[in-house]
Amino acid sequence: MPLVPTASLMDHAVREGSAVLAFNIVTLEHAEAIARACEAANSPAIIAVSHNAVRYHGDDPAPLLAAAAAVARGSGAPLALHLDHVEDEDLVLRARELGCGSVMFDASRLPHEQNIARTAAVTARLHEDGIWVEAELGEIGGKDGVHSATARTDPAEAADYVRATGVDALAVAVGSSHAMTERNASLDQDLIAALRDAVDVPLVLHGSSGVPDQDLRSAITHGMRKINFGTHLSAAFTRAVRTALDDYTGVDPRRYLAAGRDAVAAATEQQLRLLAPEPAAP
Ligand code: G3H
Ligand code: ZN
Repeated sequence: MPLVPTASLMDHAVREGSAVLAFNIVTLEHAEAIARACEAANSPAIIAVSHNAVRYHGDDPAPLLAAAAAVARGSGAPLALHLDHVEDEDLVLRARELGCGSVMFDASRLPHEQNIARTAAVTARLHEDGIWVEAELGEIGGKDGVHSATARTDPAEAADYVRATGVDALAVAVGSSHAMTERNASLDQDLIAALRDAVDVPLVLHGSSGVPDQDLRSAITHGMRKINFGTHLSAAFTRAVRTALDDYTGVDPRRYLAAGRDAVAAATEQQLRLLAPEPAAP
């Protein structure tokens, strides 16, 4: 089916009190696995390509995004395409040309006033292109080891930031941290509820791979509307490739990449099912 605008998936999640899951990809195999999992779970999702993934592919976003868009269009599941953690304004402003319905513009490393000014300017330009914009306030921990995992977003500051920038969604620091391989992060659920009450745009959780599933469910109940996973899929992929190579002395990469792809599909489907909205009572 055609690519779905991220805004449509998010509007539906806001109405329903559920969350859209976003999955970061690094290779074509990830995109294929996510599409397969969404079809199996009968669920929409966002396929996200980070600035780091773009850097990995020679700083050219076009090939991976074109492949991901083709996979999404060939899928029976409603899938959106998103540019994630983009720090470069030239790249983020190419979103529409690259087939993306949304971006996360990440100015969180800048001093607060500059973060506001740059994010407001970029958001206005992207809205002219019909692109849904997410931004970050509070420096979510773990990315490149530069931020503290103890950072917290202040609700009053968050409300001011959303008003000043015009963003469509806000990534908040509430206890999660990027790149965790153990699921033992503890979320501040009261802060999530306070942020939900303070800002009138959907909240986004980054660093979800380190959060136990029951805490993610609780975060959705308290107001999280977009949940981002990357490391969880990478861990599944790498474990499966390692195991496949243990038993294989040949040279065909399809033998181990397929194992990685299957593992990503299984991990994605499991997350989609675990965090799906509760069925309505009969
Ligand atoms: O933007 C991507 C996500 O925040 C990934 O976080 O390292 O917990 O998978 P993760
Ligand atoms: Zn993130």
